Amino acid sequence: MPTPLPSSRQRVRFAQEGRPMSAEKLNWGVLGCGNFTRRRILPAVAASGNARVVALQRRRLEDAQATAREAGVPRAYATREELLADQDVQAVFVGSHHAGHLADVLAAAAAGKPVLCEKPLGMNADECRRMVAACEAAGVKLFVGHCGRYKHAIETARQQLAEGTLGELRGMRVCYGNKAKTGVWRRDCRVSGGGPLLDLGPHVIDAVRYISGQDVATVMATVDPQRDFRTGQCEDRARAILRLTGGAPVSVECSAIEPLRNGFEVHGSKAHLVGHYVLSNMESPVVRMERLTGDPDPIVSTPLPIEPREIYRLQIEDVSRALLDPRHSPRCATGADGVATLRIIDAIYASSELSKAVALG
Ligand SMILES: NC(=O)c1ccc[n+]([C@@H]2O[C@H](COP(=O)([O-])OP(=O)(O)OC[C@H]3O[C@@H](n4cnc5c(N)ncnc54)[C@H](OP(=O)(O)O)[C@@H]3O)[C@@H](O)[C@H]2O)c1
Repeated sequence: MPTPLPSSRQRVRFAQEGRPMSAEKLNWGVLGCGNFTRRRILPAVAASGNARVVALQRRRLEDAQATAREAGVPRAYATREELLADQDVQAVFVGSHHAGHLADVLAAAAAGKPVLCEKPLGMNADECRRMVAACEAAGVKLFVGHCGRYKHAIETARQQLAEGTLGELRGMRVCYGNKAKTGVWRRDCRVSGGGPLLDLGPHVIDAVRYISGQDVATVMATVDPQRDFRTGQCEDRARAILRLTGGAPVSVECSAIEPLRNGFEVHGSKAHLVGHYVLSNMESPVVRMERLTGDPDPIVSTPLPIEPREIYRLQIEDVSRALLDPRHSPRCATGADGVATLRIIDAIYASSELSKAVALG
């Protein structure tokens, strides 16, 4: 039996005994330890106040042992079954390649362990629905690593819109372009699900949904070249106009054939927010508020202070807290957000193939 997570009653007792909450740490097991997990997630968990990695898994035991040694993780396994049978593992982080997410999440759910799965939750919406259903049936929580929610720029845009500073939402533009790494599974859509739409698209689409607080009603898209599951060819670039449920149009673009560039524009009836480098981690984000004042000076442009944040630490602390304390309402994306994101991505591919608008219903 897995180590049970504390109930809310236990949490109250801890608090009354005056034990610092930070003394309580959730034990994570990690399935798949590629570049991203080694460089970002393991250090983020180590720096967190309420989480630790007690075991990790890689396909070759020697690789798993070497990674565990470097990261100070006590146990290393070569199979997911061994990791999931580890009694100390209370929650599972899935960092495998996209084709591995479905089997990893289903196995974690069957073992009764809650999951934080890297984006995209699945390679398509059907896979995501299966994961959500399995986690619901097992009574375990499912979170998705749409880490942009922890960025100050994204949070600022969401707040300014919700508080009415920007006025009515009239439209948005979100883009993310980055040269794809070659020679890896990312360039084979049979294991990646697609090109930049699957790799960068979840960040773009979650930013649209999270900032606007709305879902997408229709999609009109162009994907170049078309994805081809017979040859594994991925698209290089996808552009789409999304119509939000509230009516505003949103232009999104994901590209794997140009140098790093990413940003948003949020257009309101009173003001616009224009942000650069708001989705990547490598550069300092810049966000300006452009107030529409009317004639004779139509725009007053003011830079907003945007702080860099340790988004992966914030994400793991948020999810760990939600699992340790049922009263905590996490910011992290859920399985339902993962499904919504892949429904939109599926619709983008379908719209491009059919050369017509696709309604999400
Ligand atoms: N949130 C973010 O900002 C962010 C950034 C980058 C990546 N990611 C996500 O993190 C996940 C992993 O990406 P990555 O950049 O770490 O990729 P990567 O370095 O290529 O690692 C791939 C992972 O998948 C495992 N894997 C299992 N079967 C595989 C196969 N047949 N071929 C290749 N790998 C296989 C690898 O196992 P071994 O450990 O045994 O090698 C490794 O753990 C993806 O879901 C990606 O979208 C998220």
